[in-house]
Amino acid sequence: MSAPAPGGFVPPPYPFDRLDGLRALATAHDGGVVDLSVGTPCDSPPEAVMAALADPVAARGYPPSVGTPALRRAAAGWMARRFGVEVDERAVATCVGTKELVAGLPTWLRLRWPQRDVVLHPAVAYPSYAMGATLAGAQAVPVPARSDGTSDLAALPEELWARALVLWVNSPANPTGRLDDLDRVVAEARARGVLVASDECYAEFVWTGEPATALRDGTRGVLAVHSLSKRSNMAGLRAGFYAGDEDLVAYLSELRKHAGFMVPGPVQAAMVAALEDDAHVELQRARYLERLEFLVSLLASHGYRCSLPDGAFYVWATKDGERAARVTGWDLAEELARSAGILASPGELYEAAPGWVRLAAVQPMDRLRLAGERMDGERPARVPPVV
Ligand SMILES: Cc1ncc(COP(=O)(O)O)c(C=O)c1O
Repeated sequence: MSAPAPGGFVPPPYPFDRLDGLRALATAHDGGVVDLSVGTPCDSPPEAVMAALADPVAARGYPPSVGTPALRRAAAGWMARRFGVEVDERAVATCVGTKELVAGLPTWLRLRWPQRDVVLHPAVAYPSYAMGATLAGAQAVPVPARSDGTSDLAALPEELWARALVLWVNSPANPTGRLDDLDRVVAEARARGVLVASDECYAEFVWTGEPATALRDGTRGVLAVHSLSKRSNMAGLRAGFYAGDEDLVAYLSELRKHAGFMVPGPVQAAMVAALEDDAHVELQRARYLERLEFLVSLLASHGYRCSLPDGAFYVWATKDGERAARVTGWDLAEELARSAGILASPGELYEAAPGWVRLAAVQPMDRLRLAGERMDGERPARVPPVV
């Protein structure tokens, strides 16, 4: 009874579980692996967050699935401060980290619009957009990028728009760090009657220009999705929220209440503390920028083609010149594991990016310097020879 029926769903290998072989190679270095694979923060959350977690009042009862009034107010207040947009706090609701929302949204939208069955997502992207389509029995369709990296909606055939449940945008983007033109994307999707879900989890880490939200021109037909995982180093607490179109937020939060999605009460209190403070974000921005600059210059001096991203905290790198056409992302990740003990993510994990590799700036400077010394040959690598 436990085997899947013919044609039954078998989950694909989880992307980061595919890195076990590379991890073994990198770990063989004296001093161990420098893990730059998962975008998981290595710095502490602010003290006020840790203090709020100890609140017994927040812990004893069931928390509101939609979020406490204080939390919805704090989220709306942060959006006003950060982006200059006014969002009614009733148009804000919590999620248990944003990944579950990304992966669940198409299923819930299909219940509302059963005649639609397509999820549009950036062509090079965080894999959960496509996985959300698969879990909903819908079709994931990649949206190509223009040469400037923004979404090319005009490239999609018209018949797809009538079938689209949602268009995902992600700016700054994982893994490329590119910024999208959110105002244009929202206007074009609205004209076609398709919901825009804007994953803005890296909005605090914009290095060229200003942070942006898709809610700048009103909330109609738009959901902005925000996470405290990256902004406030709270990935372990599973803290996120979505805000935007009032009808949709009401629908989703009602449905999620029935299904029992709840951010734990102490985590909600901690989210308030985090959202009301901007000083820790400034500190975090300086850390990421220093690490990114170090990694970009290290890789560039070893024949990689990369530059400081426009946003987010990933270095997206390929090889210079001719080699770029001949290598896979897996080759590049293996080279980094062997030469420097760096565990990086092959571009192939991001839907459609062979020949690229992603390095997350999530290790402190001393670990990055160690990787740099290994790469520069100052520390002999003790790894098995290539066979
Ligand atoms: C683009 C993007 N969206 C969403 C997430 C999910 O973050 P969380 O579930 O921690 O909020 C991530 C995590 O790396 C991400 O890179």
